[in-house]
Amino acid sequence: MARNKIALIGSGQIGGTLAHLVGLKELGDVVMFDIAEGIPQGKSLDIAQSSPISGFDAEMKGTNSYEALAGADVCIVTAGVPRKPGMSRDDLLGINLKVMEQVGAGISKYAPDAFVICITNPLDAMVWALQKASKLPAKKVVGMAGVLDSARFRYFLADEFNVSVEDVTAFVLGGHGDSMVPLTRYSTVAGIPLPDLVKMGWTSQARIDEIVTRTRNGGAEIVNLLKTGSAFYAPAASAIAMAESYLRDKKRVVPCAAYLNGEYGVKDTYVGVPVVIGAKGVERVVEIELTGKDREAFDKSVEAVQTLTDACKKIAPDLL
Ligand code: APR
Repeated sequence: MARNKIALIGSGQIGGTLAHLVGLKELGDVVMFDIAEGIPQGKSLDIAQSSPISGFDAEMKGTNSYEALAGADVCIVTAGVPRKPGMSRDDLLGINLKVMEQVGAGISKYAPDAFVICITNPLDAMVWALQKASKLPAKKVVGMAGVLDSARFRYFLADEFNVSVEDVTAFVLGGHGDSMVPLTRYSTVAGIPLPDLVKMGWTSQARIDEIVTRTRNGGAEIVNLLKTGSAFYAPAASAIAMAESYLRDKKRVVPCAAYLNGEYGVKDTYVGVPVVIGAKGVERVVEIELTGKDREAFDKSVEAVQTLTDACKKIAPDLL
């Protein structure tokens, strides 16, 4: 059986990390694309030269031409401008919207059968624009946000409880980052929900609240430390988990920015919800019942996402 082909559109910090992970996991051959000349070529050659040492077989190719995407099984999109300190994800909107229009056209022409994972921020609005620009079926276009937000939450919780990260699960809904809605009653240590762990004296509600706030600001914390870019290791690992679920038909249940058309009472909007990812793309949107404060927080988050999506519609009316 031929190897899968994974196209990485954007070969910056996340793109490079993605290529290395695809190699290490032997997920398939890689095409790195970027508008910057030399960067995808240089990074792919460097990673290819690590393959004899790490022991993986994968073709690594760098390109500045969309044609090289032909036949890709998965496209992971990081093309765009990352956040600088003091810049909100929303500031990026205008610049990255244009990039999504170009990238969407390229995917539409050369890789219309691919499963597409968008990472470019502001995520929920960019994945919406990418789906419209590429015209691919909505179940084949998703945004990476929830896996990262829940990984951050899981890491902080594991650290708090001094237990393995593997035994901590987290459930998050809503837009990426600031408006993320963590559902503590569905977040567990080995199946024990967080509210029960508070009752058991493992932690306090105040500590959980602090951890939720730190998770929400997880991206900004790293931007402030790095000063010249945003997080890349964890975002890349998150997208790889999603690509793997698609390519290996694992049917993992993961939080993603998925297209909602009535689910959760939301229409024509990409927002973070749990979905099943398998060989058909998004095979199911997991729709849980939301009440009280959770419903309120989710609605607020959807509103924030829709404000950005509406801004995209105004700037690029042709997308509709
Ligand atoms: N087409 C292709 N590539 C582009 C385009 C374009 N129109 N515009 C910019 N790029 C490339 C840049 O040349 C750069 O190599 O996208 C790459 C982005 O890489 P980085 O600046 O290193 O950003 P990175 O840290 O990888 O983050 C990418 O993901 O998390 C989000 O907010 C983050 O939107 C940002 C994206």
